[in-house]
Amino acid sequence: MYSLAVSALLAQAVVAFPHVNNNINKRNATNPTLDGTPEFIGLLADPELNRDSCGSARFGDRAFWVCRDSQHYDENGIPSLPLITTTASWSDIKEGGGVDLTWYGNNHDQSFYPQIPGNCDDNAAGACPDGTRYVIWPNSPPMVVSDAGGVVTAYAWSLNSYIKGLENIIADPSTALYKITYSGSGSGDELPDVEIVDEAFWAENEIPFGDYGNVIVNGTAYLYGKGSDGKVALARCPADSVEDKSTYEFYVGGSWTSEKPSLGDEAAALDNVSAGGQGTYYYSEHWQSYVWIGQSGISVGADFFITTSPSPEGPWIEPFNFFSAVSGTHDLGAYTLQAHPAFSSPDVNEIYITYTKNDVVSEDVALYTHPLYRVQWAD
Ligand SMILES: *[C@@H]1O[C@H](CO)[C@@H](O)[C@H](O)[C@H]1NC(C)=O
Ligand SMILES: *[C@@H]1O[C@H](CO)[C@@H](O)[C@H](O)[C@H]1NC(C)=O
Ligand SMILES: *[C@@H]1O[C@H](CO)[C@@H](O)[C@H](O)[C@H]1NC(C)=O
Repeated sequence: MYSLAVSALLAQAVVAFPHVNNNINKRNATNPTLDGTPEFIGLLADPELNRDSCGSARFGDRAFWVCRDSQHYDENGIPSLPLITTTASWSDIKEGGGVDLTWYGNNHDQSFYPQIPGNCDDNAAGACPDGTRYVIWPNSPPMVVSDAGGVVTAYAWSLNSYIKGLENIIADPSTALYKITYSGSGSGDELPDVEIVDEAFWAENEIPFGDYGNVIVNGTAYLYGKGSDGKVALARCPADSVEDKSTYEFYVGGSWTSEKPSLGDEAAALDNVSAGGQGTYYYSEHWQSYVWIGQSGISVGADFFITTSPSPEGPWIEPFNFFSAVSGTHDLGAYTLQAHPAFSSPDVNEIYITYTKNDVVSEDVALYTHPLYRVQWAD
């Protein structure tokens, strides 16, 4: 009985992750080198909305973006209240690489990710009568699990953050899982459908896998989660069974296990897997390497860090600052440093990057802009 059960388990593991290359660690790590100074392309902007903190994913021929707090402009071009806690939009990817700078799409003044019932959801800001807020501030872009025949399916995890000012009232809140489905014409203002799969897919005080970053390679989804202690841990699941937690495995103590580590587990913490702040994970075909680009943990400057690894679990090289752009005049002058692998020409070893530049307009009013740069790597 025992050996039967064990071989059944082994067989299941082999079936679940068929194309994971276990020899990949034998490859040498990639040490990225710039080919020239990154080129400033322009400012991404929505003529209707001033938007904070945006990330992108490829949906068909277009880039699909989700941003945090967004505001309409008043007649003087100043962002005005109320806030919308998330908004989404499209932009057109250029043939041969790059993206059009205009964001478009109709949010109907509602949060793109549906607000959790009961979380002060009678207004799109998630504002409560006592001055606290439930904010949906995604840390990573949607993860596309399938994109064929004009139909796109994607998932996103986002912390159910509950804040006063900018302070978290709950250090490690639960994490909602959203499912995004698009089957429209591939043009125009209509945004994808989105639903809450589970308002607490990860419970309060669990590691929020998928919130910090995600990357799919060969049908396996790798999901990074960061607790308030700053430790980053990794889970994986078949990309076609994201909603089924029983298919998940976790990287603990150097091997994959079906036992979920608890928040703060030292054995689950990965070294050098990021510089500590917000960023983007992706897979580079040019380097045959996993890549993270983003901000360092303590920074509010436009200093872009990078780390790479032959496999999602490591070993990651020591993250280093490869480029610094201009920060805004606000105390929180630059954040949400993001990479956009969807815009790269497949023939060129390049990556497009953006950040939120935050400038003071007048007392209590900040203006967000989104500089886009193209980075050319020496191969
Ligand atoms: C993806 O699968 C193919 C075929 O099994 C394999 O050759 C390749 O190394 C895999 N890629 C990665 C990054 O694991
Ligand atoms: C890895 O780097 C070492 C030292 O530079 C080199 O000798 C070796 O050939 C490299 N291996 C691969 C697979 O590129
Ligand atoms: C990774 O990080 C640890 C400490 O977090 C450091 O001691 C080590 O040198 C780093 N490894 C590499 C390959 O840079």
